[in-house]
Amino acid sequence: MTETLLRGRTLTFHHRPEGVEDSAAYTYVEDGAVLMRNGMIVASGNYDQVRTQAPGAEVVDHRPHLITAGFIDTHVHFPQVQVIASWGSQLLDWLNGYVFPEEARFIDPVHGDEMAGRFLDLLTDHGTTTAVAFCSVHSASVDAYFGAAAARNMRMIGGKVMMDRNAPENLRDTPQSGFDDSAALIGKWHGKGRAGYAISPRFAITSTPEQMEMTAALVQQHSDCHIQTHLSENRDEIAFATSLYPDAHDYLGIYEDYGLLNDKMLLGHAIHLSNREVDTLAATGAHPVFCPTSNLFLGSGLFDDARLRGAGTTNGIASDIGAGTSYSMLQTLNEGYKVLQLQNQSLHALQAFDWITRGNAQVLGLADKIGTLDAGSEADVVVLDARATPAMALRMERVESLADELFLLQTLGDDRAIVKTYVAGEPCKSAQ
Ligand code: GUN
Ligand code: ZN
Repeated sequence: MTETLLRGRTLTFHHRPEGVEDSAAYTYVEDGAVLMRNGMIVASGNYDQVRTQAPGAEVVDHRPHLITAGFIDTHVHFPQVQVIASWGSQLLDWLNGYVFPEEARFIDPVHGDEMAGRFLDLLTDHGTTTAVAFCSVHSASVDAYFGAAAARNMRMIGGKVMMDRNAPENLRDTPQSGFDDSAALIGKWHGKGRAGYAISPRFAITSTPEQMEMTAALVQQHSDCHIQTHLSENRDEIAFATSLYPDAHDYLGIYEDYGLLNDKMLLGHAIHLSNREVDTLAATGAHPVFCPTSNLFLGSGLFDDARLRGAGTTNGIASDIGAGTSYSMLQTLNEGYKVLQLQNQSLHALQAFDWITRGNAQVLGLADKIGTLDAGSEADVVVLDARATPAMALRMERVESLADELFLLQTLGDDRAIVKTYVAGEPCKSAQ
């Protein structure tokens, strides 16, 4: 039995904070502790009380740092780790010019294996313990991804991208092979250890109606899998997608017509939406995913969080590497704050930290497993240092509240602020 007691200031969320006054939304303990046993959190709270439950446990003293649940990234492209920060274009040119040639390299399983390991180490170095990733069209990239995740015992979700048109020949599957390969990968990986499969039609532009029909069949046969795609990121994309599906009501209507919208569905970007689309997202429980660093980098537009939430959606937030420009969910919040500022929406720091932990877990339907420090959760934990850089330390001299400290962390913090990441109870920061 491995039993470890982390000591430090602990913060965990119970629901989305309404605002700065909503102290019922979270538990913050100055002299706190998290007791981890066999990969699970078995107790958390006041240090003295938790200590009595495990007098023999090894204590790791992280004082004065802050201990939270590990971060969750709900939309990322693992085969794009070597095209992040590619200059000068908007979505469709960027895909054709940089992304597709790069993803073609994943036909080589050796390359996939190497990139998967590097990718997961980058995630945990940045405090991310769960992510939902698109792999390449090649099944071997999915094997690489889940194989590397299993070796690290990480709770990861992902799937083989399906694309049978408007992509280079060497990146296209067919409706039948996309179905068969996805079904085989679901059988091989879904529910094995901590792995979860996401059925992954890339977006309407790269799937024929025949492939959408096969996707619908996959979704019906594997209703416990997630589904992930892209929606209304860029105006040229919307015009192209809707021209390919002239009978659809609008862009979202394409996915709707194939019965793909439900609460397991994650739709990256969801920026330029009609009222009908917003209402349909809310009515079906499908989840828009905010990708702020990506949306600014590609000049795509501003995600309207308040409008969507007002209609009743539950939104994710994500890095979207490689259009996104940081692996850090702290930096994702930093840019997200600015995107919302431009629309007169003020993201409060407590809401922000809830979002990248419990909130994203709720979006994934996994709030009973990850995203909090509650007893019974899996022991994915991150330790944060708000004095990690000279600029942060200087600002900390004037910080007077937990909310101020969190806002400093999300604004100036990145992987340097990650003291330690624990995955299933084991320390894993590769740089340390
Ligand atoms: N839309 C379809 N594929 C992609 C992708 O790889 N990245 C982004 N940002 N948008 C997409
Ligand atoms: Zn994406």
